[in-house]
Amino acid sequence: MSFRDDGAIAIEALDAFAANARGRGGPVIRQPALGDLDRRLGLERLIAEGGLTGDALRNFLTDYLAASTRLHHPGYMAHQVAVPLPHSAIAALVDAFCNNAMAIYEMGPAAATVEFAVVNWMLDKVGWRPSPPPDAARTGERHGGGVLTHGGSLANLTALLAARGRVTPRAWEDGTPKNLVIVASPASHYSIARAAGIIGLGQKAIRHAPTDAMGRLDPACLGGFLADLRKDGAEPLAVIANACGTALGLYDPLRDIAERCREHGAWLHVDGAHGASALLSGRLRSLLDGIELADSVVWDAHKMLGCSTLCAAVLVRDHADLDHAFREEASYLFHEKDQPGFDFIHRTVECTKAALGLKMFFALAVQGEQAIAATIERQTDLARTAAAILRAERGIELAVEPESNIVCFRLDGSDDLQIALRRRLTEKGDFYISTTEALGRRWLRLALMNPATEPSDIEGLIMELRGLRAAVLLEMS
Ligand SMILES: Cc1ncc(COP(=O)(O)O)c(C=O)c1O
Repeated sequence: MSFRDDGAIAIEALDAFAANARGRGGPVIRQPALGDLDRRLGLERLIAEGGLTGDALRNFLTDYLAASTRLHHPGYMAHQVAVPLPHSAIAALVDAFCNNAMAIYEMGPAAATVEFAVVNWMLDKVGWRPSPPPDAARTGERHGGGVLTHGGSLANLTALLAARGRVTPRAWEDGTPKNLVIVASPASHYSIARAAGIIGLGQKAIRHAPTDAMGRLDPACLGGFLADLRKDGAEPLAVIANACGTALGLYDPLRDIAERCREHGAWLHVDGAHGASALLSGRLRSLLDGIELADSVVWDAHKMLGCSTLCAAVLVRDHADLDHAFREEASYLFHEKDQPGFDFIHRTVECTKAALGLKMFFALAVQGEQAIAATIERQTDLARTAAAILRAERGIELAVEPESNIVCFRLDGSDDLQIALRRRLTEKGDFYISTTEALGRRWLRLALMNPATEPSDIEGLIMELRGLRAAVLLEMS
């Protein structure tokens, strides 16, 4: 049972898995029944008897990977999860092996230092002052702050807790005032409504502000909307802007929204989980124009930065907002001690925290940020090409002109037809796409995450959908 030998078996299996998927050797996705898969993997026996090493490990990985979704396959176009850069996965292994629970500096100085550096890199990209190192002389100047969390959903919750600390500083002791409301567009990610539930406001606290025809927040109506809320006794906890929205991938007009928020003293939170990575591109950055006027930003590295799941950043313009979001007493962790570094624990829901920054750092540091920016641009260009191909097709409707790497379209027919088409497509296995509701209808949805996907794959997808349509219509009649 050698780490080296078993590690080599695992790396060889993963390398073959990726190469096979890139070469389209097999379906993108298989959906075996859980009970069958459990038996095939021999889970019960292995748990009871052990022995998962050498040939047993090799065999197990063969079965495990056969039932794993192939993100490396060019037909993978379903969800906003990166095809990870291999070195990001190596970072995950390093982290898992060291197991440095780095939320307190003493448990993982290297991991905490990397997180400090990548958070500062992100703050700089947003246009905020990075944090000075803890041992720097204090200038009293305001600067940004941030923390990495396990995913954008937790990051959105954390940002709203930071907003709560500013808007109602006594909420930690007294509870969340019932008149707080969250102003968002119906296109905001469901984690925002979940956060409202978790904070104790209830989902009724989500107030949908007017939008344009494409579902983007309409800044012209926002000021009046905020004023009316206050007239009715409500207090905005935050205005949520999408950058970009999950369903259609469209960016809200951040600068105008931010100006209205400032006029009305409202906290602006930009959910850039998917789209903030466009900040790296000189060509695409204008989509996020005005982001620096926000109070908080969420930015997932495991979506467009090639980072293995999970790694999301909560960033705030003023670090004090995040520092005051939580309070804690834990004598086993907090007491007088030498502090040469920085404890992220005060900024996060989590206590034991993985070295998320390392995965992001490896993704950036192996290629360099220019190469990652080029990939983001390539995937956005691919979406525009896909839109042009789809628009030229008879019997296919494009939802909107894409602004990111997300493309929504539908074949002539009902909402049920779109769902049935996607089911048949998934069964066939050459392509894996998602569906979404937007603008009052259901669409087939592509999240073009894979740099190996070509325009010819979009053409192949359309052909396959057309081929399946007749059979699906027959099935539905
Ligand atoms: C705009 C937006 N915000 C938040 C999230 C949630 O992120 P995560 O899946 O990392 O929790 C998503 C996920 O797709 C998203 O698109």
